[in-house]
Amino acid sequence: MTVSDQTRIVVLASGGGSNFQALIDHFRSVSAAVDIVGLVASRTTAGVIERATRENISCAVMPGLTTNSNDSETRFLTETFDEWTPDLIVLAGYMRLIPPGIVKAQWGKIINIHPALLPSFGGSGMYGAYVHEAVITSGARVSGVTVHFVDEVYDRGPTIAQWPVPVQVDDTPQSLAARVLKVEHLLLPAVVEAFAEGRVTLGEGGRVEWTDEWFSNEHFTMEG
Ligand code: GAR
Repeated sequence: MTVSDQTRIVVLASGGGSNFQALIDHFRSVSAAVDIVGLVASRTTAGVIERATRENISCAVMPGLTTNSNDSETRFLTETFDEWTPDLIVLAGYMRLIPPGIVKAQWGKIINIHPALLPSFGGSGMYGAYVHEAVITSGARVSGVTVHFVDEVYDRGPTIAQWPVPVQVDDTPQSLAARVLKVEHLLLPAVVEAFAEGRVTLGEGGRVEWTDEWFSNEHFTMEG
């Protein structure tokens, strides 16, 4: 297989980057034709940067931006993607909204992982421990992981795959987060692999199209 046959992935992240690491580890050990060509970190203090350095993966750090910096953010992402030419952009703990111009330009090529079963417990401000806190407070007995195509709204867009995780009566946000994160590290690489193999695409009218039945619930068991 030549390099040009590979699916080029760019990961966007803001935090410690355990999902970024899960992608690296997965594609190191399977023969899928995936090349993680770069990381975009939304801030200089993100722990994920150290992982990219250690793994010899190019890293671009978003320049300090104010809330009204839509244009400069769009420009920065456009230039970065023009240089790295990704086939797929993966939001793995990325805490910024993707500007509408980028969503439009990369339609069907951006996916996000969220640590709950969307459309519940998503949206602006719903990230990390806040998600798990909200799940526990609500009394929900099931949480989980969602991977979806990205549109202009936080945590919205067509669902690609979901994996349920039980909520235990004595759960804290930390214990639930740990149980969910284990599943994130399985589901995200699996979806990226399916995309790279052309088994899942975003079709006409925003419908997710699979060429197989992999996404069906029977493949996912509740993780205790
Ligand atoms: C993950 O749990 C991811 O699902 C979540 O941030 C965490 C990042 O962890 N994303 C969101 O909440 C997006 N709304 P990581 O940096 O260890 O991969």
